Amino acid sequence: MKFFIDTADLDDIREAASWGCLSGVTTNPSLYAKTGGKLADFEAHMVKICEIVGPDVPVSAESTAGTTEGMIEEGRHLASLAPNICVKLPICAESLAATRVLASEGIRVNMTLIFSVPQALLAARAGARYVSPFVGRFDDISESGLDFLSEIVEAINNYDFGWWADEGGVEIISASIRSPFQVTQAALMGADIATVPMAALKKCLEHPLTKRGLELFAADWAKVTAGE
Ligand code: E4P
Repeated sequence: MKFFIDTADLDDIREAASWGCLSGVTTNPSLYAKTGGKLADFEAHMVKICEIVGPDVPVSAESTAGTTEGMIEEGRHLASLAPNICVKLPICAESLAATRVLASEGIRVNMTLIFSVPQALLAARAGARYVSPFVGRFDDISESGLDFLSEIVEAINNYDFGWWADEGGVEIISASIRSPFQVTQAALMGADIATVPMAALKKCLEHPLTKRGLELFAADWAKVTAGE
């Protein structure tokens, strides 16, 4: 499984990138708003993220256009800002049509706000490079986000959609992830990617037995070095 970070916060992205195992960044209008950024700075902010992570790490920048033509135009423009920009589009009829055009031009689309298997299949069929099922938001309404994710993994892996063959085809981004448990389950069911906010990413790194083990090693090493 690849780890993406789900944030537009530059410090968090810098920190996660410094770990050496970050494979992507996803942003959305809410995450950008959380940084306090203004419209005029949006593109520069996305470019900055691309510079931090480097040209081989995909960065999803979301289009807020409401029409197919608008999404195509904005998508082309966003993709021109940096080689690693993926255009994030919310699933709808307009975005499917826009995805088809953008994909045929070699522009990667991350189809977001996926809440059903048919939505994911339609996005992949239209040429999306990534589909993003939202796990946590199902849990928020007392439904199992992980059961839903497992259906998406099974359905998507049943087919070859013919797009992005040189990059291994469409990939599933487990989105709206809030805990190491969700990351574990997503990995076990074979989801390609988990996009994880910084706080949950840090929890993925920690374990009480690792902490205890380090304390024991340090205490024992102190005995070895005592009096030297
Ligand atoms: C996906 O790319 C979205 O940005 C994100 O995972 C949404 O998560 P949330 O439900 O925590 O807002």
